[in-house]
Amino acid sequence: MSHENPFPTQKGTLFAEDIPFPELADRYGTPLYVYSRAALQTAWSRYAQAIAGRNALICYGVKANSNLAVLHEFQQLGAGFDIVSGGELERALAAGASADRIVFSGVGKQSWEIRAALTARIKCFNIESAAELDRLADIAHEMGLVAPISLRVNPDVDAHTHPYISTGLKENKFGVDIHRAPALYHQAQQHASLKIVGVDCHIGSQIIDLSPYLDALEKLLSLIGQLGADGIELEHLDLGGGLGIRYTDETPPDPADLLTPVFERLHAHGLDHLQVVLEPGRSLVGNAGILLTRVEYLKRTEVRNFAIVDAAMNDLMRPALYEAWHDVVPVEPRQGVPAETWDIVGPICESGDWLARGRTLPLEQGDLLAICSAGAYGFSMSSQYNTRPRAAEVLVDKQDSYLVRPRETPRDLFASERVPQRS
Ligand code: LLP
Repeated sequence: MSHENPFPTQKGTLFAEDIPFPELADRYGTPLYVYSRAALQTAWSRYAQAIAGRNALICYGVKANSNLAVLHEFQQLGAGFDIVSGGELERALAAGASADRIVFSGVGKQSWEIRAALTARIKCFNIESAAELDRLADIAHEMGLVAPISLRVNPDVDAHTHPYISTGLKENKFGVDIHRAPALYHQAQQHASLKIVGVDCHIGSQIIDLSPYLDALEKLLSLIGQLGADGIELEHLDLGGGLGIRYTDETPPDPADLLTPVFERLHAHGLDHLQVVLEPGRSLVGNAGILLTRVEYLKRTEVRNFAIVDAAMNDLMRPALYEAWHDVVPVEPRQGVPAETWDIVGPICESGDWLARGRTLPLEQGDLLAICSAGAYGFSMSSQYNTRPRAAEVLVDKQDSYLVRPRETPRDLFASERVPQRS
């Protein structure tokens, strides 16, 4: 396998590391999520290099791909985890995460989730509202524990990304208005069951331009200065996730492009002691995964050509939800078949069920297609709509492949359902 490319083409066939995709399709069936372990490691190493010798912690954003095998891989590499639910807490712990490297984000933490995270002794609760602060203080008090907290501030910067995944603007539901943050920190200080440890923000996802990060950082630095003047000292600064990946022709920044100026700014402010936390999801897994699908039918109409494949919007929701663009590559491109323009669509009964549109490809029935850059927010956002069993997931490591989640069966989908027994 080339180190550069985890999904190389050899003699006209697409491979996952050292395994040809047709072999994976034969062995595990389609639709199939295929992850490259080497790609996970390479993505991680970019962050690891960027923080080498620094006081920093990379907390993988579990929501991007929460398969235990992926979590375990990052745990082994030294990652912490950013979770947004009690379910993700259980997953992270099951994958071997140590709780003192887990941060808990999200606007709607329920009481049971707070209790579970307190019991586990996580590193930090990222608080998103005054109401949440009060609830956490009450529960920690009841349990006789002290909850470590950070306020997620909303720095009101535009991340220049899709509106659904932009989170740092005033009009978004996330975080606490940065101007209200000092008052809320003072409120937190009044609770013996809370310990202020940090500040955080997360301004959006698939960010290609660094300037919104640096704008947010400046605002956070001025907040930290103001808090310091009031005697509130922090231990860490969490800048969230959001670094973009290449889906088509984007040129996303490297983690070091973000982190180098961050460390410089902290140094300039005499804040070298602050631990820097990041919560990357997509940039660690996005290009480590492919959704493998097979063409079931070709259907030509007067206005459009449809390639109906066995994957659908329930397997990969991003095109339907965000009109996201994923590259589509034939696994064994046909010689002698003319290229035509195709919409790649799934079997689901919705016109929104498409994976790609207007792609010029030489296709025949039965062909395998790789839907690229599907490692992030692919399987983790998948559903069972139309009673479609969710896809299997496979992790490839050189010439070995591991089934890390078997394909569901239709029966799995309704096994826990009950018809009322009326007398
Ligand atoms: N931290 C917090 C608080 C977040 O809300 C998110 C993502 C992350 C970290 C990780 O962000 P990343 O590094 O992956 O950009 N489903 C959408 C993306 C939603 C992102 C939500 N929050 C998509 O498929 O594009």
